[in-house]
Parts: sequence; structure tokens; C-alpha cells
Amino acid sequence: MMSLKNKKILLVIGGGISAYKALDLIRLFKKNDVDVKTILTKSGKEFVTPLSITTLTKNKTFEDIFDKNTEAEIDHIALSRWADLIIVLPTTANFMTKLSIGKAEDLATTVLLASDKEILLVPAMNVRMWFHKATQQNLKILQDYGYLFIGPEKGEMACGEYGEGKMSSPRQIFSYLKNYFDQKNLVKNKNFKALVTTGPTKEYLDPVRYISNESSGKQGYEVALALKKLGIKTKLIAGPSNLIYSKNLKIKKVTSAKEMMYEVKKSLPVDIAVCAAAVSDFKPINKSKNKIKKDASKFNNISLEKNPDILDYLSKNNKARPKIVVGFSAETENVIQNSKKKIKEKYCDLIIANDVSKKDSGFNSDYNKVSIIDKKGKVKSIPKNKKSYIANIIANIILVKLLMNDKNIN
Ligand code: C5P
Repeated sequence: MMSLKNKKILLVIGGGISAYKALDLIRLFKKNDVDVKTILTKSGKEFVTPLSITTLTKNKTFEDIFDKNTEAEIDHIALSRWADLIIVLPTTANFMTKLSIGKAEDLATTVLLASDKEILLVPAMNVRMWFHKATQQNLKILQDYGYLFIGPEKGEMACGEYGEGKMSSPRQIFSYLKNYFDQKNLVKNKNFKALVTTGPTKEYLDPVRYISNESSGKQGYEVALALKKLGIKTKLIAGPSNLIYSKNLKIKKVTSAKEMMYEVKKSLPVDIAVCAAAVSDFKPINKSKNKIKKDASKFNNISLEKNPDILDYLSKNNKARPKIVVGFSAETENVIQNSKKKIKEKYCDLIIANDVSKKDSGFNSDYNKVSIIDKKGKVKSIPKNKKSYIANIIANIILVKLLMNDKNIN
């Protein structure tokens, strides 16, 4: 395992009583040869001085967005570009609000808004502030934007109250970072590959009419993005959808189940397969070359046949079975029970069960509410949240499973 040696951390010091712990964290970083640069916010300066920070980091502390002495030397983009990771410590309720509305009012918020690096937020606040609906709403928004969080922990706070709101300790943060960089490094070295199917399929009866379903393809798309973010080489095989896909993701667009199957076969071997597509179960045996006329007798006689089952093909493929095969299970009743049955029948490693009977989550919504079920029948339920947030949880579970799997084999 590697250490944090030579990593570059940009530490934004916010305004809260826990700001003094930034000094302990910097000390830990320096002891482990981590390079640290700091931005001190105006309110952070009320708690720690630039001199104490500079003494420890041996680097200048950045404070103003228009600092005529340093702007030529290092601007806000350069600070972000320099960093391997950015940390905001402590992250106050007020700071969370600014980030959640994308406010860039000083150097710290401007750097964060303009950054494409991963950002770790370390909240610290009074327990009631943390549990206030506004803060919890901001938490959801920020998680959806992809910010990482550590804490807050339960404990006694500076204000004398007890509860969740205490900042994670420098040691906890340090060990979180060690795991974070170790995992990134491991994934990079393993060169893992994933394929994700998503969206509906369209099965044409004639040039204009088709059998399909309500799937938007959003959940699968988000899972593909989340896997890619973890450093896994990911290909998305997507049925017809109105989604605007990121240019950074490898995508193959298909129409029918047959085409989807063809592309899946072409993409093998992979380490991970996630089948999130709502593949049409049936397709017309014959597709009419021309538009079928409004002749009732013909429409009374549409003959259908079953489509190939892509998930089944992957999970029972002896020659090139992906190490982790994940299925989705869209149900309208007895969701967990039916999904547990499905994981056995379809021989997959994980099944993501979602209730599609609700209007405000599942199909055609930005939100989802899922239960992740493993082969042993263990269920992890995730409350309703943005599909991107749920995708990050799914991707992390898949990665941990894959790493454990690899460890057992080697
Ligand atoms: O059998 P059922 O359609 O409920 O199973 C859903 C799971 O099977 C999903 O993961 C879906 O992507 C996959 N599936 C598939 N090919 C099919 C039908 C379903 O990959 N033809």
C-alpha cells in the first residue's frame, strides 16, 4: 500500500471554532511528506492566523481573490490545477449554502466553483444546525453535485451540546484520505473494465410503430458515470432516450434488444456488467417493410417472440462471465421478495430492486428509491434520493465487491 507521500492537498480553512484543528491536520500532512497549500477565508482568519499556517506549511496562505502580490504568481485556476484533492475544513452550514447555490464571492468559493478536482467537505456545526431541513437539503444537493463528505461525528461540541455535528478528527481525516488514495491507486493499477446497459429498447412493428416502455435510461447512465469516476474504464450501451450524454463517457447507442445483445457481446471481456436496461421482453416476429394500414384484421394478429435475455447471457456465460454481474429489478408489488427470487434465477451477484409503481421516483424521474440485494439475501435500502447519488453508492459497493473478489482469487 502506498502512503500520502508527495500528494498535493489544497486546504480551505473555514470560519468555525474547529478551524484550529486545521493546524493539527497540516502537521500530520507535513510529517507524512504531503504538500499543503492553504486558502484562509475571512471568517477562518478570526480563528487561526496566517502566520501559524505559513509556519507549518512553509507555503504562503492565500486569502484574497484580488491579491495584487500573488495574482500574477498563482491565480484561482492554478491553485485548483495544482491540487490532487481539495479539503474544506471546517465546512460550516453557511458555507454549505453557498456551495449548494454555486455562489462565488471570495477566493475559496471561486476556487471551488471553478475546480474539476474532487472536493472533501468536513462539516462542523451545532447539532440542530446540522439537522435543520435547510442544511439536510443542502447536503443532498452537494452529494448530488459529487462533493465528498467525512463526518460530522457524534460527540460533545464546543457550544457544550451533545450530538451529531462534531468535526471528524485530523486522524480520522488522514486515514480517510489514505484509503481514498490507496483505492484510487489500486483501481488504476488493476485496469478494470465495465459495461452498463441502459434505457428502453424499441422493437419495431413497421417503420413508425414500436413496442417499448417508460425507461429514461437515467439510472444506468448515472451508474456508468459513477464507475468511470472511480477510475474504471466504462462503456455505456444505451437504448433510445432523450438524455444528453457526457462527452467523457464511451457510449454506443442501440435501438433493439438484438442490437444491444450484439454490442454487449462485442464489449466482452469485462470485469463488471451492470444491466440497467429495461429491455422489451417481446418483439414482433416480422417487421413490416411499409407502414401497416389501419386494417383491424392485421393488428389483431401481431405475433410476438421473446427477446434474448442479456443479463442471463452474461451471468451464465462460462467462458467470459464478468467477475461482478449486476441486475435491476423493476417491480410494482412485493418488490424485495420478487427481487430475491430474481437474483437466484438470473444468477447475478447483486440486484438493484426498485419500486416503479410510484410516480415521483423510478421510471422517468430524476429520483429513485432502491434496495441493493446480494446473493445471500442481504438487503441495503437507500431512501429516496437523486439517481446520481444512488449511482455513487451502487458503484462503490460494486468496486468493494470486485476488490474483495480479486483479493480472494490472487
Ligand atoms: O426479468 P426481468 O426483466 O424482470 O429482469 C430485469 C433484469 O434483467 C434487468 O437487469 C434487465 O436489464 C435484464 N434484462 C436483460 N435482457 C432482457 C430482459 C431483462 O438484460 N431481455
